[in-house]
Amino acid sequence: MCGIVGYAGPVPGGEADGGGLAVVLEGLRRLEYRGYDSAGVAVVADGQLLTAKRAGRLARLVEALEVAPLPATATAIGHTRWATHGAPTDANAHPHVSEDGRLAVIHNGIIENYAVLKAELQAQGVVFTSQTDTEVAAHLLGRAHAELGDLGEAVRAVCRRLEGAFTILAVSADAPGTVVGARRSSPLVVGVGDGAHYLGSDVAAFIAHTRDALELGQDQVVEITAGAAVVTTFEGEPALARPFTVDWDAAAAEKGGHPWFMDKEIHEQPRAVADTLLGRSDASGALVLDEMKIDEAVLRRADKIIVVACGTAAYAGHVAKYAVEHWCRIPVEVELAHEFRYRDPILTERTLVVAISQSGETMDVVMAVRHAREQGAKVLAVCNTQGSTIPRESDAALYTHAGPEVAVASTKAFLSQITACYLLGLYLAQLRGNMFADEVREVLRHLQAMPDAVQTVLDRAEDVRKLARELADSRSVLFLGRHVGYPVALEGALKLKELAYLHAEGFAAGELKHGPIALVEEGQPVFVIVPSPHGRDSLHAKVVSNAQEVRARGARTIVIAEDGDDAVLGSADVVLRVPRVPTLMAPLVTVVPLQVFAMEVATAKGLDVDQPRNLAKSVTVE
Ligand code: M6R
Repeated sequence: MCGIVGYAGPVPGGEADGGGLAVVLEGLRRLEYRGYDSAGVAVVADGQLLTAKRAGRLARLVEALEVAPLPATATAIGHTRWATHGAPTDANAHPHVSEDGRLAVIHNGIIENYAVLKAELQAQGVVFTSQTDTEVAAHLLGRAHAELGDLGEAVRAVCRRLEGAFTILAVSADAPGTVVGARRSSPLVVGVGDGAHYLGSDVAAFIAHTRDALELGQDQVVEITAGAAVVTTFEGEPALARPFTVDWDAAAAEKGGHPWFMDKEIHEQPRAVADTLLGRSDASGALVLDEMKIDEAVLRRADKIIVVACGTAAYAGHVAKYAVEHWCRIPVEVELAHEFRYRDPILTERTLVVAISQSGETMDVVMAVRHAREQGAKVLAVCNTQGSTIPRESDAALYTHAGPEVAVASTKAFLSQITACYLLGLYLAQLRGNMFADEVREVLRHLQAMPDAVQTVLDRAEDVRKLARELADSRSVLFLGRHVGYPVALEGALKLKELAYLHAEGFAAGELKHGPIALVEEGQPVFVIVPSPHGRDSLHAKVVSNAQEVRARGARTIVIAEDGDDAVLGSADVVLRVPRVPTLMAPLVTVVPLQVFAMEVATAKGLDVDQPRNLAKSVTVE
């Protein structure tokens, strides 16, 4: 939530060199998926602090800057907001400026003690001009800077007073050439360029300029100038930041000819699955997970797995539960991270917690990870983002290699999370002796065939697009599935809700007769995810019956079924075909038509597919 960019570099060379302002606007364009309620920039030029900010999308700020340009500069910060405190107005947009107008702050997160700090400042005569929690930081920093005479010292002093989760960046007219950043439980990475340094909520902020980055730790402050990045603790002690190299480039974060990032990311799914599987076996075919830094003895002893995640990542965990329990015979609980944290879960040293997160920054998951570790459980992160908080705070990390996911709706991350969790399940089964080596190899072979199967579904997507255009005016759409098809139904409904603003519900098909079937009325579209008839026969037959039951009550059934499964024909108004794959692999193909459907309904309704209303890509507040 909220995108943050900072730049300290050389003084611009000529008119064509937009300097820091151009770098920051470019960074904001790439970070806009993190929040798009408002955008703003602050620059330091010729001993002055200048700002511009606008409610609405970044494009409104860019238009405003065309009318009233800011000078090219060597020092700039920029912000794109997902509103927490105060409506998305010009006044509440960041940056916020100190009383004397010489210092500007941008912020991501929530300052939990802002009310106390605000009252204190108001009692001292400070007049507030916004409803944000951020403005207290601007006034406190302005005063601290005037008193201490050093921007880094001022940021450290103020951070020691702030409670909650925050990333802040500050620039001052009295500290030209310097940007100071600080983080507590909120993301901030440093880009190391050639004679320039960058700050960003994630590496996309500076990927056009450098792939060399530094991962900041908790409660750290970084002061960047053109020539250096100096990291300290909030107390001013020197601190180390871990260097890393980003494994994708700027082209990966462009639309590449697709109408939406989501469309591009859906089409990248075969690659995302293949890359997540790369290099996971040794010469003998045995599964190796190099990143698995948790002691084998601990993994052998584990008597329970708890998956913590939110949204789509939680549904990936839900799919994985079926496979991991089947292969490893360990009970797997799947829990929404925000519920887990507050229900006093039973955790022991024998519990393995698996935290799944594309961004690695979802605050609910961060809090769940901390809680689990405090209680003595081991935590493994399944994550797509290097340098992010969740893998850093976990005992080990298993990376998905999906590349940057920019669209707010998660797609390729879902497939790669399932793939990574399956690798984990197989690894545990191999380690604990639940499966023979040849059994593990066979499942790996099935997994390795999945990129082609997903590609086959994509090649057939035109039927889904047509159907979406026909059904775009539906009031409500239901999704039914059993076994691994159940989380797929939940995911199909989530996609439609978040992208097309349509009422959509996913149900376990067996639950239908316990209430939800009352929702079915004449013409009601119902997607039914049918398992393979080559798997458990009773499972297939039961789902086909469920399709018949809703159809008999007037529903228009859209059945997702395997090639050659003619048993569904009598209960389907529309059949969407997927290739034949083993039952546990089916989610990797059956979810794809649902993703395409949601994207196309939203497109047909004229909605912004990549940036749906009220949402942001990374949910970095609880
Ligand atoms: O970055 P994460 O995987 O932790 O994000 C979790 C959810 O916020 C995310 O999957 C969300 O549900 C998506 N917008 C769904 O498309």
